[in-house]
Amino acid sequence: MKLTVRDIMKLKSRRKITMIAVYDYFIASIADNAGIDILLVGDSVAMNLYGMENTLNVPVSIIENHVQAVAKAAKRSLVVGDMPFMSYETGVEDALRNAARLVRAGADAVKIEGVSAFEKQIRKLIDSGIPVMTHVGLTPQRYRLLGGYRPQGKKAEDAAKIIREAELADSLGSFSIVIEFTAAEVAAEITDRISIPTICIGSGPYCDGQVLVITDLLGITPQPPFFAKNYANLSSIIEKALNEYKNDVIEGKFPAEQHYFKMKENEYDKLKILLQKERQD
Ligand code: KIV
Repeated sequence: MKLTVRDIMKLKSRRKITMIAVYDYFIASIADNAGIDILLVGDSVAMNLYGMENTLNVPVSIIENHVQAVAKAAKRSLVVGDMPFMSYETGVEDALRNAARLVRAGADAVKIEGVSAFEKQIRKLIDSGIPVMTHVGLTPQRYRLLGGYRPQGKKAEDAAKIIREAELADSLGSFSIVIEFTAAEVAAEITDRISIPTICIGSGPYCDGQVLVITDLLGITPQPPFFAKNYANLSSIIEKALNEYKNDVIEGKFPAEQHYFKMKENEYDKLKILLQKERQD
């Protein structure tokens, strides 16, 4: 049965939550079968599928298309659509219109980077029936302001700010919160203080769940962050397969008999006569 945001919230005190950032139908189907709880169509699609340098140039239409693909695959998993840069910062109406596009594409919820700066937007979405996952710590859409993809909450004052943001997310009615690249103590403190599940990436083990980006997890990203764990080395498997294919084609080993079909002999004879006739006319 399909998970709801309520089911995810109830997991806080029961077991750890699993989430991945994923963008396409086949891998989302495999993840759904594997029992991953949440499929996030992240704006990290920018780097991982489109080869962009950062997430700042992703239009809503890209997330919308990938939400459609992932949602078709999600029989059980909850699907969250990431609100891309400038799809919600510009105001409440823009946030609502863009979130509605993702929900109509099949998202069960949306994710917003930041909390206090977007209080009105978060309230409006929730009031309109759209569940919101918030995101604190390293918020990649603000990497310029943060001075790069740097760890957050190393100093006590910064850590306290992140904790306050998370508490606000809880009080606004966000159903869960991503904590990215903070000191483990910060994530632990938040997990302890708030009622909604914390889902961490690069923020240590004291969280209600973990999230990894699929290309990091499968060993496709050339230089993954240190906090991502490789559970497979797909890039070398893919390269080996492509080399074998290339060599087979060059050496005439592919396609083999089982990969093609032939006409019936009498049909081929007829064809030859037809072609001969055409040439004579
Ligand atoms: O876009 C993304 O993949 C994310 C995750 C890292 C949480 O926001």
